[in-house]
Amino acid sequence: MHTIVLATQKGGSGKSTLAIGLALAAKQAGFTVRLIETDPQGTLSNWLRRRNTDDVVVEPIYHAADYEPRLKMLADSGLQVAIVDTAAGLSAVTTAAIRHSDLCLIPSRPTVADIEATVSTLSVARAWKRPYSFVLNQTPIRGQRIDNAAVALAEEAALDLAEVLARPLIVMRNDHQDSLASGLAVSEFAPNGKSADEIRGLWRWIENRLELEATTNVLIDQVILAANGVLHVAAGLAADETTTLAS
Ligand SMILES: Nc1ncnc2c1ncn2[C@@H]1O[C@H](COP(=O)(O)OP(=O)(O)OP(=O)(O)O)[C@@H](O)[C@H]1O
Ligand SMILES: [Mg+2]
Repeated sequence: MHTIVLATQKGGSGKSTLAIGLALAAKQAGFTVRLIETDPQGTLSNWLRRRNTDDVVVEPIYHAADYEPRLKMLADSGLQVAIVDTAAGLSAVTTAAIRHSDLCLIPSRPTVADIEATVSTLSVARAWKRPYSFVLNQTPIRGQRIDNAAVALAEEAALDLAEVLARPLIVMRNDHQDSLASGLAVSEFAPNGKSADEIRGLWRWIENRLELEATTNVLIDQVILAANGVLHVAAGLAADETTTLAS
């Protein structure tokens, strides 16, 4: 199982929005996905209540002590991707989530306050030697502000920009807010829109970063289908044989 955690101390940077967007993008790419909510504010549960289908599961885990055993149970069940939303600040359960992540995504708006607030999350990811990347979210479409923010994040991590900054940047657009309000992911709300394109692009970037195989699920499905086919043929032959013997 691959566990992707969205964390940053700053409130309102887009952790929940990106968690939902990425979960549905991963699902549409063929992965089995579970959303994990560690934020008692309940943004994901509230979003799920507005959704009319039961095709997505939000798993609440609010206590640090429960986190690792529940994550292990999900991994043992064969789940492929867990996407974890955390609260602003740095609680014990957020630290547990970062500690047990395969990738810690740190969203930041392109503002000095947001960028400064990423420092504590970055230090936890580094302390536990977990891979991390920044996601610049709610950016203007273009402009110097984006370049300055990207450079500031790279300087903070003291690493090359290409190494620390996830792509593409996620532009500020109403589709994100409207989809959240309708219990949908942005790729469902406006599948042909630019926001959906960016979120799908971000999921592909994560797939590459974690070297995930989008075909895994399809292959497993094919093997199961083929096995079922063989069983059906075998059952048919056995039934024929019984009929022949009986007649
Ligand atoms: N790219 C975007 N474009 C436009 N609006 C966005 C974008 N990303 C997030 N938002 C909006 O910004 C607000 C805050 O986003 P969100 O709730 O995802 O942040 P958060 O980091 O989870 O906040 P909190 O720390 O309170 O949990 C929401 O209204 C959301 O719809
Ligand atoms: Mg949130």
